[in-house]
Amino acid sequence: MSRNKHEPAVIVMFGATGDLAKRKLFPALYSLYRDGQLAPNFVVIGLGRREMSKNDFNERVKSSLEEFSRHPVDNEWEQFISHIHYQRLDINTASDYDELLNTVESVEREYDIPQNRLFYLAIAPELFEPVTVHLKNQGLLQNSGWKRLIIEKPFGHDLPSAEELNEKINQVFKEEEIYRIDHYLGKEMVQNIQVIRFANSFFEPLWNNQYISNIQLTSSETVGVETRGNYYDKLGALRDMVQNHMLQMVTMMAMEPPSRLKAEAIRDEKVKVLRSIRRFNTVEEVNQHVVRGQYGPNEIEDKVLKGYTEEENVDPNSQTETFVAAKIMVDNFRWAGVPFYIRTGKRLPRKATEIIVEFKQMPFVFFNKEGNLEPNLLVIRIYPEEGVHLKLNAKKPGTEGNIMPISMDFCHEFTVGINSPEAYERLINDALEGDSTYFTRWDEVSLAWKIVDPIIDAWNSSEKALPLHLYPAGEMGPQEAFQLLEQDGSKWWPLDGEDNHE
Ligand code: BG6
Repeated sequence: MSRNKHEPAVIVMFGATGDLAKRKLFPALYSLYRDGQLAPNFVVIGLGRREMSKNDFNERVKSSLEEFSRHPVDNEWEQFISHIHYQRLDINTASDYDELLNTVESVEREYDIPQNRLFYLAIAPELFEPVTVHLKNQGLLQNSGWKRLIIEKPFGHDLPSAEELNEKINQVFKEEEIYRIDHYLGKEMVQNIQVIRFANSFFEPLWNNQYISNIQLTSSETVGVETRGNYYDKLGALRDMVQNHMLQMVTMMAMEPPSRLKAEAIRDEKVKVLRSIRRFNTVEEVNQHVVRGQYGPNEIEDKVLKGYTEEENVDPNSQTETFVAAKIMVDNFRWAGVPFYIRTGKRLPRKATEIIVEFKQMPFVFFNKEGNLEPNLLVIRIYPEEGVHLKLNAKKPGTEGNIMPISMDFCHEFTVGINSPEAYERLINDALEGDSTYFTRWDEVSLAWKIVDPIIDAWNSSEKALPLHLYPAGEMGPQEAFQLLEQDGSKWWPLDGEDNHE
């Protein structure tokens, strides 16, 4: 592993006392530090609304690492925390940015940092604009080194709002300075999709509509909305998961080989996939291809699970979807006729993210005369286990031609013995290095909204739109999600642990 490969920089973190900083950002920075990936003179300036003593802030960071870090909080901790500062800042008060500038300049002098500045906005999206404007007006961007901006999703709540936001941010930062996070792109196995596809001679020739019957992408969660009712009730699963994570996984599976393994070449190919995805023009098309669901109450093994509308900060009459399944068609030469089925939801039976490629049936001769031979599957497991499984048919030993499915497994944790880095570690590291490959470019974001907006419009504005289907909390979504595949003569393959692929 190369160590300290990027230039020193000051990381200015807005929202340093928030949930994301606690669960993901500080643990990621600590891992990068432990793995020798940060420059020895790195500095983080954490910003929050509240007045807080250095000691209280340090304790907060410490307990977040104790809870969420994959490294022990041992004697290296003291050294790590000495690089982290805290400052109170009110986002709308210009003079607070003057103070911030003083702090940034003083740590740059003290640590001999060449004015490279990374601004991380781990805050609500409606605050992106005031922050960037103040950064510009108060002189924080008049630095001699590089400047970069990391922003979290959601990027807008539909295309017009995303365009407006983008225009505002573009007045301050250039597109190549903006790093829009989609943390799924930082996941080990999502990045591995490219390697599986482009480093193995036996997959790429089969990777098309001649040999593949359909591709299934599932991201299921056991949690409900937890404490995020306020945020989630305005978004729903379509905006929260499909517009970004699910469509990004589709692009990784469907893209053409890029001309070079460079950020722009890769993102160009992903954009072409998004352009080829068939848009829904009518409510009937939405009804036919998209299922929306919401979890209702349930009782499992004496445990009472609340329905979505009973959750804290959720409108009791909410029509927000907590589950989406959809059939997506990529209308290009490679994929014409191959459905990409996606589904995602909260309060499902297991936490799992998986992609399953179902290959076409063998001809109906020999072992498949009756047509009941199971198809070959390539399973890419992203979470909880990271691995690749290939499901094949083989002769059952000791029988005369009985066929049994067998599985060839490559499992990261067992084979490589590595506890792979968290998505946020990779992404922060990439942003510090100036590598934007696994961040979403503006054209990707806008095209994703063009796919999702007609679905939202149909749901919101038409009486002809199919209703929200309730599913009992803890079950695998509404029945209609199963019917979506059944009407095509397909079925969802069980996820890891749901049943055996093997
Ligand atoms: C986030 C969504 O982007 O992704 C959350 O806002 C969701 O609602 C989360 O829980 C899922 O991420 P992961 O990595 O746990 O699959």
